[in-house]
Amino acid sequence: MQEIDSLLIFYYFSLLTILNRTTTVKMICAEDIEKVERLIRLSETNAVLPDVFVPWHIPEDNEPLMPEEIISLQGHPLFDTLSASQKRELGRHELVQVMYSYAWAEGLACFIFNKRLLKIPPDSVEYRYLVKELIEEFRHQDMFAKAIRLLNGKKIQLSWFHRFIGRFHSRYMPASLQFISVLAVELVTDIYGKMIRKSPEVYEPIRKVSELHHIEEGRHIHYTKLWLKHYTDKAGFLKRTAFSIVVLLNIWYMRSLYVTKENFEAIGITNTAKYAAAARKQLKQKFGKEYLDEIIEFVQEFNGFNFITKPLWKRILAAKL
Ligand SMILES: [Fe+2]
Ligand SMILES: [Fe+2]
Repeated sequence: MQEIDSLLIFYYFSLLTILNRTTTVKMICAEDIEKVERLIRLSETNAVLPDVFVPWHIPEDNEPLMPEEIISLQGHPLFDTLSASQKRELGRHELVQVMYSYAWAEGLACFIFNKRLLKIPPDSVEYRYLVKELIEEFRHQDMFAKAIRLLNGKKIQLSWFHRFIGRFHSRYMPASLQFISVLAVELVTDIYGKMIRKSPEVYEPIRKVSELHHIEEGRHIHYTKLWLKHYTDKAGFLKRTAFSIVVLLNIWYMRSLYVTKENFEAIGITNTAKYAAAARKQLKQKFGKEYLDEIIEFVQEFNGFNFITKPLWKRILAAKL
């Protein structure tokens, strides 16, 4: 939170005010309709149901709960002061926190989709796809809640600041910025999803949760990119700047939810402030260096890096641009 300075907030809210007055709601164009129809068919014929797909009954057998490299503190000298059991348990609490954050963010996405549905005809391709996406996102939230209960880790409620920002954005942002936020969060959730699903040593129910989420989020990302290109293709400097800042803020928002002092307290650390600060710093560096490639590629596609946004990406996300 301390990384966001008042200048950034000033930039952002100024742009938001301008865009709120100029952005109009658009439908996707005809040439994309067949692509969306295909996504609708996929959702109907290849639905991935958490209750069937995830082997919830398998008990833990001391396997890692997430790959060690994505535990926040990994790579920092303080990580080596933890025992093997503390590392595993830190993985548990962070994973629970990550899934709790995803469930919260997906609840906001559902709110955004529902608002959109009120403005479009129920037989339109966009309406029909959004209903499919809503069904899937509700299933995901149910799945995350089940996984959180299965892991029985420490859950930390989101801070007042995080809740305020989430609610404010989902209520007052123009549609294009809301959908770009949804996409940014989907891209962020997919980072861990991909890494967990590709790690055969990880506890199987969690691996399958990640695999399921990766499959369905891949379809959502495809749809949202189709929808957004009608905004980003014609966007001028100001809008591209706003889009880029919104993506940046969403990444920062999600990343800032993963590390808490309480997680270190739960594994028996006494100097929790020192460990949490090191973990935040370490996670920022790892995100910037290793996790942002796909998101940077997306921002480059709409030409979202310029003299205003580049320094912000470097400073707040440690992005290698
Ligand atoms: Fe999801
Ligand atoms: Fe999604």
